[in-house]
Amino acid sequence: MASISQVLLLAIVGLSVTSATPVVQQPGSAQFTSSMTRFLEAFRSIMPCGFNGIPVLAPLETPFYEFEYISDDYTVVGNVSNMRIEGLDGFQVLSASDYGKTGEAAYDLLFPKIQFLGSSDVEGFINIGGIKVPIRQKAVINEALIDLRFVGSYSFANSQTNSSGLRIIDFQQSVYLAGVRMDNRNTLWNISTNNFWNRVMNTYAPLALQEMQPGLTNFLYQNYMIPKINDLLANVSMAELVDYYQTLAQAFENANCKA
Ligand SMILES: *[C@@H]1O[C@H](CO)[C@@H](O)[C@H](O)[C@H]1NC(C)=O
Ligand SMILES: *[C@@H]1O[C@H](CO)[C@@H](O)[C@H](O)[C@H]1NC(C)=O
Ligand SMILES: *[C@@H]1O[C@H](CO)[C@@H](O)[C@H](O)[C@H]1NC(C)=O
Ligand SMILES: *[C@@H]1O[C@H](CO)[C@@H](O)[C@H](O)[C@H]1NC(C)=O
Repeated sequence: MASISQVLLLAIVGLSVTSATPVVQQPGSAQFTSSMTRFLEAFRSIMPCGFNGIPVLAPLETPFYEFEYISDDYTVVGNVSNMRIEGLDGFQVLSASDYGKTGEAAYDLLFPKIQFLGSSDVEGFINIGGIKVPIRQKAVINEALIDLRFVGSYSFANSQTNSSGLRIIDFQQSVYLAGVRMDNRNTLWNISTNNFWNRVMNTYAPLALQEMQPGLTNFLYQNYMIPKINDLLANVSMAELVDYYQTLAQAFENANCKA
């Protein structure tokens, strides 16, 4: 059985359910879109239960999590308790067409609302012009991402290490966020300061995402995600990939998870 990271990477490959211009097809391509659609629905169905090493993802709950970021310019240590993330299984595939007919895989995926609930305790300092400004925050986290949307496309070519295997080329993705709804409460702050920061963040977060976008796509995906996916695909033919999705989908369906 695949590890969780393999399944999640495959789920990302699996988001390719739409397409555009005709190119040469590998044997099995005609089944790619239908096996994908089935796999995604089956994956959604196990999210409330978890499956063989895949944790429960709907909701995703982390009882306690500690972190520590230290550099010359800042030190931030803290922890997050009772984090609960809701809505990961609420995704909608907004468009779908047949990869087998066109050879360009494209996807348009929407999460209408992802809700984060929890509490955090953070301590540290930021160095601003040689002055160490202390940070102390105890907060109740209650924030939501509204209409988080991923629109992307890619194609398959032969692997460079195995001509019978696959690799992903021409990967492009944009991420859109319609809004955030912050209702965090820093218990060390009064109500008006909390309201002020929630308003600032509601306005700023979607803009920050837009600013970060070219860096995100280029760096994270091109350097990290795609090479990892291509390593996984190197010795896998299209027919085997389709078969793998069908087999996993069948196993997920057999788990018969009732939310
Ligand atoms: C983290 O959690 C523990 C309680 O488990 C607490 O004692 C500690 O002060 C917390 N805060 C930070 C900033 O580490
Ligand atoms: C809330 O705190 C801020 C910053 O410390 C202060 O300027 C403001 O007057 C306070 N407001 C109330 C209503 O206490
Ligand atoms: C693909 O096969 C080659 C040759 O057998 C091997 O060296 C490589 O590790 C394999 N890659 C994967 C991801 O299994
Ligand atoms: C290359 O990929 C094919 C297709 O999946 C596979 O059957 C074969 O074992 C791979 N070759 C090597 C050397 O791993």
